[in-house]
Amino acid sequence: MSNKLPPIIAPSLLAADFARLGEEVHNVLQAGADWIHFDVMDNHFVPNLTIGPLVCEAIRPHAQKDGQAVCIDVHLMIEPVDRIIPDFVKAGANLISFHPEASPHIDRTLGLIKELGCQSGLVLNPATPLQYLDFVLDKIDLVLLMSVNPGFGGQQFIPSTFEKIKQTKSILDAYAQKSSRHIRLEVDGGINTKNIAAVYAAGADTFVAGSAIFGKPDYASIISTMRQELAAVK
Ligand code: DX5
Ligand code: ZN
Repeated sequence: MSNKLPPIIAPSLLAADFARLGEEVHNVLQAGADWIHFDVMDNHFVPNLTIGPLVCEAIRPHAQKDGQAVCIDVHLMIEPVDRIIPDFVKAGANLISFHPEASPHIDRTLGLIKELGCQSGLVLNPATPLQYLDFVLDKIDLVLLMSVNPGFGGQQFIPSTFEKIKQTKSILDAYAQKSSRHIRLEVDGGINTKNIAAVYAAGADTFVAGSAIFGKPDYASIISTMRQELAAVK
């Protein structure tokens, strides 16, 4: 059974204008985005420093479309993670993902996110093995594969990600067959209108794009080109 979930486009705020974040969130959702990808960096786990729960709370009222709240997809690139997870839940995060290297007790951290009522994700860096998924799929709603080394926007997509997407997709399909749970497969880093179709064809269903959208003058035209590219994949 192949679980082709409807594709989701999640622009990364990392490339937005930080002086006008609320407006940027509003504009990108009006332009057709589905989720807001929220990159949290601590200058420790990754060599950059960004935004935290206070900013998540501040954008929460802007992250809606037609009166409906949209998913704030929090990508934690911080260590440790457990202490701050409740703060993101209170700040209105819907999905919280973390890197296994950043938690000494991965199962416990996933359980904490779920107990607090959020969806949970595990993020694998380009060189992080898929074995981390082996015993925790029941507690995961999304697998996020990094297609760049985390820390910065605007990097080139690493081609070995295609093979990793295929292998992950087959693990998730086998799991869906026995559990009837469809876990999303998100890819983050260097995604643009030129490669999104290939990333989708390899098995991903959720696409983070920062500089390809926020770096451009017309968000709606980029997002609609991405949708056309996705629709053309058989
Ligand atoms: C990188 C972040 C990404 C980044 C993507 O550490 O996790 O979400 O913002 O940016 P682009 O799409 O420019 O590679
Ligand atoms: Zn990210």
